[in-house]
Amino acid sequence: MDSTIQDTPINKQLFGEDFTWGVSTAAVQIEGAHNADGKGESIWDVFTAKKGKILNGHHHRIATDFYNRYQDDIDLIKQLNIPNFRFSISWARILPNGTGAVNQAGIDYYNRIIDYCLQQDIQPWLTLYHWDLPHALELQGGWTNRAVVDWFTEYVKICAHAFGDRVKHWMVMNEPAVFTGAGYFFGIHAPGKTGIKNFMPAIHHAVLSITAGAKVLRGALPDAEIGTTFSCSYIEPYSDNPKDVAAAVRVDALLNRLFIEPILGLGYPAELAVLKGMEKYILPGDEDNLKFDFDFIGIQNYTREIVKYSFFTPYIHASLVKAEKRKVPVTAMGWEVYPASIYHILKKYDKYPQIKKIYLTESGAAFPDEVINSEVDDPKRVEYLQKYLQQVLKAKNEGCKVSGYFIWTLTDNFEWAEGYNPRFGIIYVDFETQQRIIKASGLWYANLLR
Ligand code: FCB
Repeated sequence: MDSTIQDTPINKQLFGEDFTWGVSTAAVQIEGAHNADGKGESIWDVFTAKKGKILNGHHHRIATDFYNRYQDDIDLIKQLNIPNFRFSISWARILPNGTGAVNQAGIDYYNRIIDYCLQQDIQPWLTLYHWDLPHALELQGGWTNRAVVDWFTEYVKICAHAFGDRVKHWMVMNEPAVFTGAGYFFGIHAPGKTGIKNFMPAIHHAVLSITAGAKVLRGALPDAEIGTTFSCSYIEPYSDNPKDVAAAVRVDALLNRLFIEPILGLGYPAELAVLKGMEKYILPGDEDNLKFDFDFIGIQNYTREIVKYSFFTPYIHASLVKAEKRKVPVTAMGWEVYPASIYHILKKYDKYPQIKKIYLTESGAAFPDEVINSEVDDPKRVEYLQKYLQQVLKAKNEGCKVSGYFIWTLTDNFEWAEGYNPRFGIIYVDFETQQRIIKASGLWYANLLR
């Protein structure tokens, strides 16, 4: 790593006046109130109720109780000098059955959040889909059913109409590779479906829905900034053996290119032979409905992956060499701490001429925090954020079109299948009492943004 960059102390000015700073969250992970005020069931309500799906039997039914405590939490955002707040809308709060009757109480709730943010001079950034499909739609096949494109379109129209007068920044979907891969191939996330026969249609219908949703937003809100977000890991081969190198190309196509390239008008990556199986879901005319000219692309990066050829891994013939095996520093998720990852990822996406603007819409780390004398000192997280930001700055100084950075995440929260174990927040939460304590990393961010 370039040592001069590593040693540059980070300050806000280095990123320029126009750089956007924020913090990111998602509905399932914070809201709780899983059945309050007319909300319908989501696939996460059903999945977390099943035995053995979530570590330690945790569930999100209360989470950080953001539903009731949003004012206090937005006050904390204000106190930390964070000017932009990214959060997601729960589809089943707005449309309890996924389509049809609208739940006005759900709309009122998000209106209260948006209005309170604006009162505090905090810009709301809305994600329309952060993985919580209404269960009623899953009963009809969920993302494997092509009708989801129409269901999603209906939902987006309602949100654009309800919130578009005040919300100027929109993200259509969060990390389609994760919710289709973990939810419809591996079955480790809701709805817990497995296999290629579920994965293939889910991929294609997610891409069609991203584009359809974006078109609705553009039509209804011509002045809004419209984007969508992708999970991205920097991929390197385990060795220079051509088999490992080719395996790394395939994993890169799967993790980093599968969703974004059709959306940029480049089609699905040809390197993935397994995508042949998708042909039967692609209907005449679909090609024209995959592409959208987004105002920005949200890039979310946590780590890098090292890839090896593997004869026995079906479809992809590649496997990841785990960080713990490589004896490198890791976070509580077991993800390698590798700051240069974010630099390489930025450079990679910067090369697509179709991408106009990049925001890093998630970046952060989980470490086992402890409360000592009512304080939480988390030097590893501070160091992680500093080092990743140094790499962002390096890319920016080299002309990369990166325009903002959002920390994942505001408070410790429900980390999907990992339950409450990994703590990602810059604010600590005692899940028994719901007490919040700003961590040293939170104070560090506040100071950076002062
Ligand atoms: C991302 C998700 C987010 C959170 C972080 C740790 O993949 O978008 O909800 O779980 O990882």
